[in-house]
Amino acid sequence: MAIRFSTTFLLRKLHQLTGIVPLGLFYFVHVYTNSEALNGPKVFNDHVQDIHNMAYLLFIEVFGIFLPLLFHSIYGVIISGEAKFNVMSYGYGRNWFYLLQRITGGYLFLFLLFHILNFRFGLIPGLNMTPVAGHADQAYSIVSGEFQSAAILSVYILGVLATAWHLAYGFFLFAVDWGIVIGQKAQRVTLAGSLMLALLLGVVGVNAVFAFRRPCGLLPQALCEAPRVNPPGGSGATKF
Ligand code: HEM
Repeated sequence: MAIRFSTTFLLRKLHQLTGIVPLGLFYFVHVYTNSEALNGPKVFNDHVQDIHNMAYLLFIEVFGIFLPLLFHSIYGVIISGEAKFNVMSYGYGRNWFYLLQRITGGYLFLFLLFHILNFRFGLIPGLNMTPVAGHADQAYSIVSGEFQSAAILSVYILGVLATAWHLAYGFFLFAVDWGIVIGQKAQRVTLAGSLMLALLLGVVGVNAVFAFRRPCGLLPQALCEAPRVNPPGGSGATKF
């Protein structure tokens, strides 16, 4: 007998799947690229340029990032609108996590709209109006110029922390909902792993934000490469 799935069931599964692939995958690459700022403007700009040189970039952006992101965010807002919060009557950890997943989702909806218009397209009036797309040689200075403002810096710190939670706890929810992790003990271990991943992504993300304020971010400079500002073959490694 053929198995029939309701549209709501399929949309929910697609929502969970897009959060992991491609969006989760994209974020790991993105946080790695941002962390390259620890090694100075030239290293960061070169990485952005490498991304801009990728074959099929527009296709990857549209079908691998923008469309899945649009679906995941809009359907996420719909699901959150239907949610019933019961932390006041049942203050268990998982109920708080459920609430936090929806709060971080709501923040990310607004943050990503701002962030993509700001850096990808340079379209936020009053802020930098040069898109990073097509201007990889200015990528570090565009981001670092904006991060001098305490307000923008705070918006980004909250953005990376919200992403760290939303993605890491999202892995746990995905593993349980797709029947990958079934037993109680296995779920406890997976939850602990997700919380550790949230912490790791949060620390690495915040450090990447500060890498646009000072070389090596929040780490001691001895742990980072001497920032290169000259082109290879020029006068060599230089501190800035
Ligand atoms: C340290 C913090 C961050 C910095 C410095 C940063 C930097 C950038 C830059 C420069 C771009 C434009 C890339 C280009 O046009 O080549 C970009 C795009 C983007 N960022 Fe971020 N970002 C940060 C945090 C985040 C967070 C927390 C998310 C959450 C998922 C995120 C998601 C995106 C998305 C979806 C795009 C559009 C990708 C594309 O068009 O290729 N970013 N980011």
